[in-house]
Amino acid sequence: MVRETRLCADNLVQPLFVCPGRGVSRPVASMPGVAQRSVDNVVVEAREIAAAGVPAVILFGIPERKDPQGSEAWNDDAEVQRAIREIKERVPRLTVITDVCLCEYTDHGHCGVVAGGDVDNDATLELLVREALSHARAGADIVAPSDMMDGRVGAIRGALDQSGFARVAIMAYSAKFASAFYGPFRDAAESAPKFGDRRSYQMDPPNGDEAMREVALDIEEGADIVMVKPALAYLDLIWRVKHEFNVPVAAYNVSGEYSMLRAAGLNGWIEEDRAIKEVLTSIRRAGADLILTYFAKELAAHL
Ligand code: PBG
Repeated sequence: MVRETRLCADNLVQPLFVCPGRGVSRPVASMPGVAQRSVDNVVVEAREIAAAGVPAVILFGIPERKDPQGSEAWNDDAEVQRAIREIKERVPRLTVITDVCLCEYTDHGHCGVVAGGDVDNDATLELLVREALSHARAGADIVAPSDMMDGRVGAIRGALDQSGFARVAIMAYSAKFASAFYGPFRDAAESAPKFGDRRSYQMDPPNGDEAMREVALDIEEGADIVMVKPALAYLDLIWRVKHEFNVPVAAYNVSGEYSMLRAAGLNGWIEEDRAIKEVLTSIRRAGADLILTYFAKELAAHL
């Protein structure tokens, strides 16, 4: 009766990796329990996710081909766009969020176009806009830019509004840190940078005040939901964002956080079910409204 924080399926978002082909379900070695799935299998999975009570999925694409610009990202017939259409048709109660970024689609693996050995912020904005519009045309409910270019939320909001998608919401990866905890995701999404790192656009882990400025800018530019990512090493920032801005806050319990718990659980070193609940409860207690987590479907079934 006096419990202050409750974990509930309503707050969870399940990430899914969409790959080419039919009948494909390819396990990701560094993320036991997670697979790359072709569109047909994504739909089967989406049905189970909805049945478990999880209200939303976030889709990541693994394209057939990559190029310097990441042009598959705005191909209306690519995997993610087809998955959006199929899910909205067959599992209409599921909210479909799409990750808007170029790193899965570029041959160099960076989140923007590369010029002179570095990512060109402003040249990237137009490409992100194309990607977001393509997702909106396919029927996405929420687009989630994860690239960390400056000005992308405003650019995407303006383009959506002008193109008749005023009702498509934006969940901005606002305080996204250059973290060691994305390693397993880069296996899953095949998106590791081929040279250098993401430190010129993702944030420096020690910087909390800067995170507040990033969040303030994204809200000003039109973000409906702001995100802190990763979650566990940044619980203080989830708390600060919630209390300073009082807007919907999402936290991404990222791949590395998932794999650590899974590995320890599979080895019998911790009681996995309890540890998962404890960790996700801490993210809620810190102030997150939404949690993006690879545990979503499994956890919802227990709740
Ligand atoms: C794309 C993106 C990444 C994640 C979400 N969107 C990887 C990155 O920035 O390298 C990480 C998610 C996870 O680790 O679970 N930019």
